[in-house]
Amino acid sequence: MATIILGIETSCDDTAAAVLVDGKLRANVVSQQLEHENYGGVIPELASRAHVERIAAVVETSLSRANIDKKDLTAVAYTQGPGLLGSLLVGNAFAKSLSLALNIPLVAVHHMQAHLLVHFIDDSFPTPRFPFLGLTVSGGHTQLVHVDHASSFEVLGETLDDAAGEAFDKTGKMLGLPYPAGPNMDKYAALGTSKFTFGKPTVAGLNFSFSGLKTSVLYFLRSAQDKDPDFIKNNLYDLCASIQAAIVAILLEKVKTAVKQTGLKQVVLGGGVSANSGLRKALEALDVELFLPPLPYTTDNAAMITMAGHLKYNEGALDNLSSEPKARMSI
Ligand code: KG4
Ligand code: ZN
Repeated sequence: MATIILGIETSCDDTAAAVLVDGKLRANVVSQQLEHENYGGVIPELASRAHVERIAAVVETSLSRANIDKKDLTAVAYTQGPGLLGSLLVGNAFAKSLSLALNIPLVAVHHMQAHLLVHFIDDSFPTPRFPFLGLTVSGGHTQLVHVDHASSFEVLGETLDDAAGEAFDKTGKMLGLPYPAGPNMDKYAALGTSKFTFGKPTVAGLNFSFSGLKTSVLYFLRSAQDKDPDFIKNNLYDLCASIQAAIVAILLEKVKTAVKQTGLKQVVLGGGVSANSGLRKALEALDVELFLPPLPYTTDNAAMITMAGHLKYNEGALDNLSSEPKARMSI
């Protein structure tokens, strides 16, 4: 009999559901919340309300696109954390209700693990083999992890302050770019030259730090604008190229060290920042077997939650109705 998994993602501002049949993606639905655009960031209460309004329709749409009847589902997977608690709670309640009503197992999925496990979707892109070195880079996380199997992740290093995505978003905000600034920074960087340099962090081991870069950019802009009030406007593309190069350099250095230290030759990238063309290009130059997610799977989606759910289900890693959402959750 086929293994049919429904996966639900509500950790931040995307309400998403996907259906996977024997590891093959049948439907992947995302409803992006545009209500936050005018606020320069995600407003948690607005996000929870929007999830409540959309979740039933998003799940129904994913099932009908997959041509799957609810009663044929094998299990339901959902994002347990990390994320915004009110948002997570909506997916948790919905998944638990389905599990109870249909009498099928519940699988609780870690959002950042899923960003890496999306590579196992049986699609037209290559799949890594366990064990591998994972780099998760998103708006809330930056970690290097040793991945042994679908439920075994060991953190080798992580950011001590801001995440890589935050570094893009916060410095982008200084340049007047709308939230989230990452995608625009990437686009403009391609039109400029990396000619400005900023302070480099000195963090031991495999940990990262991005807050020093943020401060360095702030002071650099202040002093440049004292001399030329239109400095940002006149140098936007070069500023984006320079900031992007600085963020990529920080990530690249630690990936190189982790490859050397662990001897792992497969590097798997996951999370919103893995869409960044500068980062992808820099990693492609390394002497490793590199797994880059296709662009639709870089930002938050339910396909990754469903894939992680499928793998965990196969490993027998099931949850029960006392399963609770967790705003903070170690990988
Ligand atoms: O994984 P994700 O969709 O959500 C979280 O789990 O946080 O990541 C969102 C982050 C944002 O910080 C956004 O600016 C960044 O990913 N991002 C990018 C690019 N596309 C998205 N950063 C740099 N370059 C991009 N092309
Ligand atoms: Zn994410």
